[in-house]
Amino acid sequence: MAHKVALTGIKPTGTPHVGNYLGAILPGLELAERADCKAYYFVADYHALTGAQDRERLIHETYEVAATWLAFGLDPEKVVFYRQSDVPEIFELAWILACFTPKGFMNKAHAYKAATDRNRDAGEPEDAGVGMGLYTYPVLMAADILIVDADLVPVGKDQVQHVEIARDIAQRINHHYGADALRLPGHSLRAQTAIVPGLDGRKMSKSYGNTLPCFLPTKKLRKTVMRIKTDSTPPEEPKNPDDSVVFGIHRALLDADAEKALAAEYRSGISWGGAKQLLFEELERHLAEPRARYEELMANKPLLDEILESGASKAREVSVPVLARVRDAIGIARR
Ligand code: ADP
Ligand code: TRP
Repeated sequence: MAHKVALTGIKPTGTPHVGNYLGAILPGLELAERADCKAYYFVADYHALTGAQDRERLIHETYEVAATWLAFGLDPEKVVFYRQSDVPEIFELAWILACFTPKGFMNKAHAYKAATDRNRDAGEPEDAGVGMGLYTYPVLMAADILIVDADLVPVGKDQVQHVEIARDIAQRINHHYGADALRLPGHSLRAQTAIVPGLDGRKMSKSYGNTLPCFLPTKKLRKTVMRIKTDSTPPEEPKNPDDSVVFGIHRALLDADAEKALAAEYRSGISWGGAKQLLFEELERHLAEPRARYEELMANKPLLDEILESGASKAREVSVPVLARVRDAIGIARR
C-alpha cells in the first residue's frame, strides 16, 4: 500500500502547556503511529520569526518545542523530524510560489486580517506593525507543504484556510505549465479534542498567562495546581463538576469511566484541596517521565541538533528532487 505523506509544522512560540499536549501533541503522535502514513513534522522556526524577534528566545524556544515532542514519545526513526531552517529548498520554492500568488489571497488570510482588524479598532493605520513576513506567511507555509509532496496536512481549524491557499497556488502552477509539477495537498482536521481550560477558567493559552506548563518541577506544578480558581463551596458540600475548572482540566486527562467516577466524587462532596491533589497526582502520572526525558534533552543540545539535522537530511531526500522537478517545469533549467 502506498503511504500517504502527512506533514505538519509546529511553531516554536513559548513554553508548551497542558492544552498543547492534549490538543496538539497527543493527536499528532497518534497520527504518526498510523501504518499507512509517513509523517513529516517540523519546527517552523522561520515562521516564528514573523513575531519572535529576540535571538536568545528564538534559539531557546526552538529547542524547547523539539525536546517537548521527543519527550512525549515522537520517534525520530519513524517520523521525519526537522527544523524548517535546515531545509533550504523550502525558501527557494516559497519564491516560486510567491510569483504565482495573487496578492488578494494574502489580503484575505486570517493572520493578516486579524492584524488589520486590530489596527482599525485601535484607530491605527491599517498596516501598522505588519511586516512582509506576516503578510506572506501563507506562501511560506505552502512551500513547507508542497516541498515534500504532502498528501495530508493535519491542522486545527484556524489553519485550514492556509492549506487551501497552498492547494490553490499549486493548481495555478500546474495549470499554467500544463504539468504535474506539484502534488495537491488536502487537509485533515485534527479531531476536535476538548478545549482545556486554564487556571482562571478561560481557554488555557499562552496569551492569557493562565497555563500549566508541561514540564514544571514537581513542587512548582503542585503549587500552580493549588492556584486554580475555585468557588467558596465549603469542603464537605456537593460540588457540580461541570462548573469546576479543576474538573475541566482533570477530565481531559481521563477516559470516560474514570471521568464518571471522578464526577461522582465531586457530587458526593470532595474538598477543593482534595480535588486539586487528585488532579496534581494525575498530572504527575502523565508528566513525570516525559519531564525527566525533557530535562535530559534540554541538557544535551548537541543531541537535539543531531536528531533535527538527521531529520533534515531525510527531508532533503525528498525536497531536493521536488524542487528540481519544479525548476525544470518553470524553465529554471539548463540545456
Ligand atoms: P496558545 O493559545 O497557548 O498560543 P497555540 O495557539 O500555540 O497555543 O496552540 C498550538 C496548538 O495547541 C493549537 O493548534 C491547539 O490545537 C492546541 N491547543 C492550544 N491551547 C489549547 C487548549 N486550551 N485546549 C486544547 N488544545 C489547545
Ligand atoms: N501555521 C501553523 C501554525 O500557526 C504552523 C505551520 C507552519 C504549519 N507551516 C506549516 C502547519 C505547514 C501545517 C503545515 O500553527
